[in-house]
Amino acid sequence: MRVTIKDIAREAGVSVTTVSRVLNNKADVSDKTREKVLKIIDRLNYNPNSIARGLVMNKTYTIGLIVPDISNAFFAEIAKAIEDELREYGYSVIFCNTDNDKDREKESIDLLRSKQVDGLIGAFSHDSKDEVLALGKAGLPIVQIDRLVDDSQIPSVIIDNILSGYEATEYLIKKGHRRIAHITGALDTNTGIRRAEGYRKALQEYGIEIDEELVMEGDFSQESGYLAMKEILERNKDLTAVFAGNDMMALGAYRAIYAAGLKIPEDISIIGHDDFTLASLVSPALTTMQQPIYKIGKVAASLLIDIIKGKKNKEGLIVVNTSLIERSSVKTIH
Ligand code: RIB
Repeated sequence: MRVTIKDIAREAGVSVTTVSRVLNNKADVSDKTREKVLKIIDRLNYNPNSIARGLVMNKTYTIGLIVPDISNAFFAEIAKAIEDELREYGYSVIFCNTDNDKDREKESIDLLRSKQVDGLIGAFSHDSKDEVLALGKAGLPIVQIDRLVDDSQIPSVIIDNILSGYEATEYLIKKGHRRIAHITGALDTNTGIRRAEGYRKALQEYGIEIDEELVMEGDFSQESGYLAMKEILERNKDLTAVFAGNDMMALGAYRAIYAAGLKIPEDISIIGHDDFTLASLVSPALTTMQQPIYKIGKVAASLLIDIIKGKKNKEGLIVVNTSLIERSSVKTIH
């Protein structure tokens, strides 16, 4: 039975990360721990050479990760969680950022396949559906995060975007707002599409007429939030609230609202989505729908390892919950 890095860690009573630090001769390990770990490595005849190990097991012990926008703290936090979890299993990550560019998304998939990664985690747009399905059919373990290509059985870790969009809008309605705008996320992603669906469903269920003049398409970027909010304000003088499909666009909307000489929440109330790190730091602090961002990353990485080890089948959907984080950007009106 091949001795693994986890066996060494268990036998020594330390973390896999500590064993990895000893193997890489890092300074931040006490002499006592280093000596104990080295003795166990020697006694169990552990071969840390990942290349040799890879050749024997026909594995590279690398995982590919594809995200659309690493400058968005949402994806940066997910990437950190994924790497943290994979390191515990002795895997490293080859990371690709696509800047929401569909061609770069396809190039990234091809690159990672050429690097013979053992598995792939990605937030894909619909445009890459054929490539993602082909990889799955070729037997590469894949887990989708956040955004997924529809009609695929590929394992995914997501939130219920319709429910989350509904609850964000319902919160504004219960605060007395009726003229509520929505800045959508990218409409080539199911997260953007389904949050807008939740917005419309809430208005309908509360008997509020949907005014398409109050709905503007964004792409999850701050700039798109600014431009969309600017357009909405120019078109409508009577709106009192806006639901932005993510926090980056909410920050862009702040810019447009202030540029129009208006105040938040006195003139315009705003709710975002994600609760990324900046949401609590802006003024007024942003009320938003919190995604369990770090948990999504860890669950996705752990699910992929189970699939690689054959412990989990190659299908399945894990849905995690969002929750309302009430701060200072929404006013109650009667
Ligand atoms: O902020 C980036 C957005 O894109 C998030 O809402 C996430 O859900 C992704 O779809």
